[in-house]
Amino acid sequence: MEKYSKLVNKDYRLNKNYRPSNMILIEPKVKGNISANRKIWINKETLKKWNLLVEEAKKENYSFAISSCYRSYSYQEKVLKYYIAKEGITEALKHVAIPGTSEHQTSLAIDYFITRENKNYYDINDTMEEYAWIKNNCYKYGFIIRYPKDKEYITGYIYEPWHLRFVGDIASYLYQNNLTLEEYHKEKIKVKEICR
Ligand code: DAL
Ligand code: ZN
Repeated sequence: MEKYSKLVNKDYRLNKNYRPSNMILIEPKVKGNISANRKIWINKETLKKWNLLVEEAKKENYSFAISSCYRSYSYQEKVLKYYIAKEGITEALKHVAIPGTSEHQTSLAIDYFITRENKNYYDINDTMEEYAWIKNNCYKYGFIIRYPKDKEYITGYIYEPWHLRFVGDIASYLYQNNLTLEEYHKEKIKVKEICR
């Protein structure tokens, strides 16, 4: 559905006061990390599909949980300020969106972490078998790896294996064709122009 494929990036911004309506508040219970037990707002359909993904992953003995989903404009401001203080503006802007340009504000983006033997891993990378599984299976539940490796010049962000985006039905098409959401929207515009 169109609403799940919405493009939010440096060029397509959200209003400061935009707050999605179809959200639900959850309190993930995760062992071994108190900060992970805070409440999180998430789009209802995104949660439904995420839960299915987590169930399927369990069969492989893989365990995933959400560390961040919806972030308001003002919360994104705090996140950005934190990283600017920590690493400087140039580095921060490589992986943190300016408020109004973060798709976390849509509640369709999920930052996840891996739990293995009661330990949580936030710094997801290519060597992790859990990541290999999620990368090749998340599309079945409507998710994509939103900021893939080697597409930084298109997305404007460094590789973020921990950041998923719920896009709904088009996820399979994007996965099969190795497309980012930016490329998908460009393709759509081209098709419209040809059909005119
Ligand atoms: N990490 C992504 C780009 C965000 O801050 O929305
Ligand atoms: Zn994220």
